[in-house]
Amino acid sequence: MTIPIIKLNDGNRIPQIGLGLWQNKDKSEFDAAFTAAIKAGYTHFDSAQAYDNEQFLGAAMQNQKREDLFVTTKIAVEHFGYNNAQKTFQQSLKKLQTDYVDLLLLHFPVPILRKKSWLALEEIKKTGGAKSIGVSNYTVKHLEEMKQYASVMPVVNQVELHVFLQQPELLEYCAANNIVVEAYSPLAHAKDMDNQVVADIAAKHQKSYAQIMLRWCLQKGLVVLPKSVTSSRIQENMNIFDFELDAEDMQQLTAQDRDLRTCWSPVHVP
Ligand SMILES: NC(=O)c1ccc[n+]([C@@H]2O[C@H](COP(=O)([O-])OP(=O)(O)OC[C@H]3O[C@@H](n4cnc5c(N)ncnc54)[C@H](OP(=O)(O)O)[C@@H]3O)[C@@H](O)[C@H]2O)c1
Repeated sequence: MTIPIIKLNDGNRIPQIGLGLWQNKDKSEFDAAFTAAIKAGYTHFDSAQAYDNEQFLGAAMQNQKREDLFVTTKIAVEHFGYNNAQKTFQQSLKKLQTDYVDLLLLHFPVPILRKKSWLALEEIKKTGGAKSIGVSNYTVKHLEEMKQYASVMPVVNQVELHVFLQQPELLEYCAANNIVVEAYSPLAHAKDMDNQVVADIAAKHQKSYAQIMLRWCLQKGLVVLPKSVTSSRIQENMNIFDFELDAEDMQQLTAQDRDLRTCWSPVHVP
């Protein structure tokens, strides 16, 4: 199976599916999930300083060819600031046992400090510590503000996005500005798994509820980051490249948007 690859605005490439690693804090559970993911064909892993598992990912990666993997980490909110971001990023590299990450993100649009933190990321990219740099949880307002201070714009914006939280204006803005959107919590954190429209479309395609949720994201052109520590689900979430939702399915799913946030919201961050 070949995973689709999306080209970023800096010329680098990102696999369209990655394994989410939030709330994966137990080493043996982490190792089992990583092994299952490699077996299922995942090459892309989404970590963060705040997840407290960069060290597990670093150890697990040692049995793989580094250049075959796509590794993301994120600067934690409490590590924002020019010096702090740079200093703690070096600690991340140490934990990850690598001399570069493929993608480094600012985790949240922290007021005031986000500007200097972005300048630190630009410096890290220049010196080779991160192949690509981006942001997470940025609204249109935060992205638009970046045009005043950024030398390079982010390659991605990683945000909560799923069938029940579709954010069409943000998607339109990112498409117009050549910023790839990564969908986090693409399963809505498994909090709303009983929508009848999703279930009916799943039955029609003989796929699972989760696979329909993920396939919708793929067909919207998003990078999807489902999290699971369960090997059968890790495999299931990868089996989304052998079928297609038709125009009517997409239309029905688009009608399910209801602004459901399952994670933190950046909407009111000045
Ligand atoms: N940048 C940010 O601020 C931010 C915020 C949130 C998330 N993220 C990233 O996005 C990733 C995914 O988001 P998420 O962890 O919030 O939620 P998610 O991927 O939407 O949902 C994860 C939940 O769904 C369950 N699940 C996974 N596959 C399933 C399947 N096939 N059928 C039924 N249930 C299934 C998992 O259970 P088991 O694990 O028990 O299998 C887990 O409880 C995170 O891990 C993280 O990498 C980023």
